[in-house]
Amino acid sequence: MKFFVDTADVQEIRDLAATGLVDGVTTNPTLIAKSGRRILDVIAEICDIVPGPISAEVAATDYETMLAEGRKLAALRPNVAVKVPLTMAGLRTCKALADDGIKVNVTLCFSANQAILAAKAGASFVSPFVGRLDDVGQDGMELIGDIVSIFDNYPLFRTEVLAASIRHPMHVTEAARLGAHVVTMPPAVLRQMVQHPLTDKGLATFMADWQKTGQSIL
Ligand code: E4P
Repeated sequence: MKFFVDTADVQEIRDLAATGLVDGVTTNPTLIAKSGRRILDVIAEICDIVPGPISAEVAATDYETMLAEGRKLAALRPNVAVKVPLTMAGLRTCKALADDGIKVNVTLCFSANQAILAAKAGASFVSPFVGRLDDVGQDGMELIGDIVSIFDNYPLFRTEVLAASIRHPMHVTEAARLGAHVVTMPPAVLRQMVQHPLTDKGLATFMADWQKTGQSIL
């Protein structure tokens, strides 16, 4: 299972990448706006920090402009994955970019049929938005399970299921249980995953007992 972080905050990425737990990064126009930086600069910088796929989203909605934007983003660094929306024009752009050997992440996926279309268009990743489905009263994880089992029926589909719009650690556990290939999560969720009160309590006891021994390992 691969872990991506969903942020354009370079300092956060640098800190988390140092742990060796980050396999890639996803961004979107909202996250780029939040960073306050130029997309081309921030994507290039992230690509130099994390060697895995870095998703950079196009900003246009028509095929010709999306294709031109996608090519420009992909030319930044070899580890850019171009993110396109799950529209007919987005799928056409996906196919054209994939035919050129460019990795594509098809985003804003909310149904199994949309995911099948992304796979047919040669996407490297399809991103079902779990949290946003939960927000409107649909079970986002049920969609992850559906897509994983459908893709399992077709070994020629190379598209990885990238569980996105992750809101809390239980989403990660569930996505793993269902066999999602990748989870992209906000940095805060990755930090929450390490927390357990019994770990803190146990460590405090061990440290106190160790002090009593008067020993030093080094
Ligand atoms: C995925 O790549 C998106 O950037 C992201 O996961 C959207 O999450 P949100 O619903 O928390 O905005």
